[in-house]
Amino acid sequence: MTILVTGGAGFIGSNFVLEWLAHSDEPVVNLDKLTYAGNLENLRAAQVNPAHLFVHGDIGDRTLVQQLLDKQAPRAIVHFAAESHVDRSIHGPREFIDTNVLGTFNLLEETRAFLRKIGDAAREAFRFVHVSTDEVYGSLAPGDAPFRETSPYSPNSPYAASKAASDHLARAYRETYGVPTIITNCSNNYGPYQFPEKLIPLVILNAISGKPLPVYGDGGNVRDWLFVQDHCAALRLVLARGRPGETYNVGGASERTNLDVVKAVCALLDEAKPNRKKDHAELISFVADRPGHDRRYAIDAAKISRELGWRPAESFESGLRKTVAWYLDNPEWVAHVVSGAYRGWIDKNYGKRGPA
Ligand code: NAD
Ligand code: DAU
Repeated sequence: MTILVTGGAGFIGSNFVLEWLAHSDEPVVNLDKLTYAGNLENLRAAQVNPAHLFVHGDIGDRTLVQQLLDKQAPRAIVHFAAESHVDRSIHGPREFIDTNVLGTFNLLEETRAFLRKIGDAAREAFRFVHVSTDEVYGSLAPGDAPFRETSPYSPNSPYAASKAASDHLARAYRETYGVPTIITNCSNNYGPYQFPEKLIPLVILNAISGKPLPVYGDGGNVRDWLFVQDHCAALRLVLARGRPGETYNVGGASERTNLDVVKAVCALLDEAKPNRKKDHAELISFVADRPGHDRRYAIDAAKISRELGWRPAESFESGLRKTVAWYLDNPEWVAHVVSGAYRGWIDKNYGKRGPA
């Protein structure tokens, strides 16, 4: 028995792989292209674990995916690989279409072909968990009810549109070809190993080095924050007991304005580094808003709670405290990301060997 994870060198994927290896003896094959967002240093703890096989490659590479499925014969796929940053999708949407739409299409096609080659029992047990986002639902007004699984899709950024397209493909492959897909739509994650282009790690690292803390617009946009390990726990449950053809919304029931999030990070840093002369919040700097910036996201997670018994273990306050502590306790990881040295490790380790 083995599972295939895509994008397992990224933020959520690497947390998932590390926790998988901690919770289970079942091997995990990890297919990742190692874009700027992929960082093998996230997986250092898994490096010498024989239950972890890293494969450097693109989900859009049809031959590679086909050979990998045939050779490894996984019992499930957990599909994280994506271009994931909204701001990057505004500046350059092409890669979002290539990976999120065409890459997912390729993975589904090869999965469909693979399922035709295996026995009835293995096909019946197989699962394809498609990891997606609450951004597909669009933006909520202040008094609106949180997103449910039945909320209409209304994506507003190229990133959200590309994820919506991939969700539709995952659904269609179940309905049309019987590929046992399960879709999860999760709210904003934060925690260890998040690349510092996203709000929380960006603010932590800028604040530590005395740089401005950029807040888009009036800072009143609301996100529903979830500690990454709670997301990983939800995905493990969905993989184990989720029903093919279903969608599960996952969220932290922790709505905060961006300004409140930034202030909360600053307060924790004031506490951790009391010697600083000024309060970190004095670094807050309001900057031009993101085009098409969704005002509010909120998730109704009642379905996954009711059907699978999932609940987040961390509150926003406890999760944020752990996150700030993690960034302060891991200066080497931070330094390699900030300097770009983590990319050099890829060349050093994979340059001569090439893809597996
Ligand atoms: P990330 O950007 O940190 O990691 C993405 C990973 O995918 C990287 O390791 C990258 O190298 C890899 N990758 C990119 N293109 C690839 C390709 N063509 N082939 C193989 N690997 C490729 O992203 P993340 O924040 O960890 O998000 C993971 C998934 O979860 C994404 O699908 C995202 O849409 C979804 N999601 C993220 C959040 C969040 O708050 N970060 C919330 C809900 C859902
Ligand atoms: O909702 C789930 C989504 O959350 C995921 O699907 C995405 O992959 C993930 O990147 C995240 O998207 P956001 O756009 O919400 O995350 P980001 O960290 O980029 O921004 C969070 C909020 O903070 C958003 O309202 C924009 C704002 N922001 C962001 C940055 C980087 C700022 O005000 N200043 C900043 O510098």
